[in-house]
Amino acid sequence: MKLTTLQLENYRNYAQVDLACHPEVNILIGENAQGKTNLLESIYTLALAKSHRTTNDRELIRFDAEYAKIEGELSFRHGHMPLTMFITKKGKKAKVNHLEQSRLTQYIGHLNVVLFAPEDLNIVKGAPQVRRRFIDMELGQISSLYLNDLSQYQRILKQRNHYLKQLQLKQQKDTTMLEVLNQQFATYAVKVTLRRQQFIAELETLAAPIHSGITNGKERLTLQYMPSIKLQDTPQDEEGLINDVFESLQASLKKEIERGVSMQGPHRDDLGFQVNEMDAQTFGSQGQQRTTALSIKLAEIELMHQEVGEYPILLLDDVLSELDDSRQTHLLSTIQHKVQTFVTTTSVDGIDHEIMKDAKIYRIAEGNIKK
Ligand SMILES: Nc1ncnc2c1ncn2[C@@H]1O[C@H](COP(=O)(O)OP(=O)(O)OP(=O)(O)O)[C@@H](O)[C@H]1O
Ligand SMILES: [Mg+2]
Repeated sequence: MKLTTLQLENYRNYAQVDLACHPEVNILIGENAQGKTNLLESIYTLALAKSHRTTNDRELIRFDAEYAKIEGELSFRHGHMPLTMFITKKGKKAKVNHLEQSRLTQYIGHLNVVLFAPEDLNIVKGAPQVRRRFIDMELGQISSLYLNDLSQYQRILKQRNHYLKQLQLKQQKDTTMLEVLNQQFATYAVKVTLRRQQFIAELETLAAPIHSGITNGKERLTLQYMPSIKLQDTPQDEEGLINDVFESLQASLKKEIERGVSMQGPHRDDLGFQVNEMDAQTFGSQGQQRTTALSIKLAEIELMHQEVGEYPILLLDDVLSELDDSRQTHLLSTIQHKVQTFVTTTSVDGIDHEIMKDAKIYRIAEGNIKK
């Protein structure tokens, strides 16, 4: 899929933008703090109905303005589709083909993006919540069923935590309600866990050969989904797993009431990366961690293509000049002539690839874009 046009109104430091996008490589050049990341963020927000940088939508509205608007025309192999995100201080509206979508879970997934920024190193190095967010954002774009299950899970988790807190504070003594919640909790916990496990297995299949290629066959990358609920080793169907989780919840009831919070479930799960059988988070060198992050991002592009039948749009924020020649070549030859890309950089020096010949270059200064 390609973004043919992008229009912004009052988005961050942009009053008004009307951009005709190049179908292949768009390079956004500008000094620091001019609006490069803001522009990529607007495309990300158009795709996922939320920013990758903040959970507070109000920050996206230009200072002193009342609303922010992002509009983009998507083109597929089989047609066109306008998308609109309208953000006010009270809430947001998302439109597909000018029709307002009643649920964001229905909206997300029309536009697929893969964003790669320096902070993505934290997917390997950082806290488990960064990895969970990574999984949820990617999987959410390719499966609305997953998004629904996840939001059900989060709703029940909230109720359950509230209830556990009441039991902890002795504002509540009766635990029968907890049993009902445990049943629902187990059902969605298993759905979310299974889908994540499948996603990680698919991602590994695609990322391992990429990682091996970048390192000239010296490194073998493996991925492992690590559920916080210990399940029995024997293979089980979904029904059996739900039972296991339910049992596990019942068994730790006392401990959870003491703590007043749900201590197991997908909200506590993690993802592990191993390079040559060694945990990359703890023992990996900076270079190995970087290669791992790059490999999984490139794998994501292929995975989305497999699942959706179209390549996503790639957003590269300040990463190209940071990569050494071999990693840069790998990235650029993966996307060449296939993936529409938006690249930000402070200078084109250090980006040395034939892909630059066809690129469209924009200069960004103080929220203004010039071709
Ligand atoms: N809601 C807003 N309204 C107006 N301006 C904003 C808003 N939010 C952020 N900005 C401005 O946007 C600027 C940052 O833009 P951005 O993050 O896109 O910079 P950049 O070009 O990516 O810079 P760098 O090269 O340092 O990453 C800040 O200087 C900030 O003042
Ligand atoms: Mg930036």
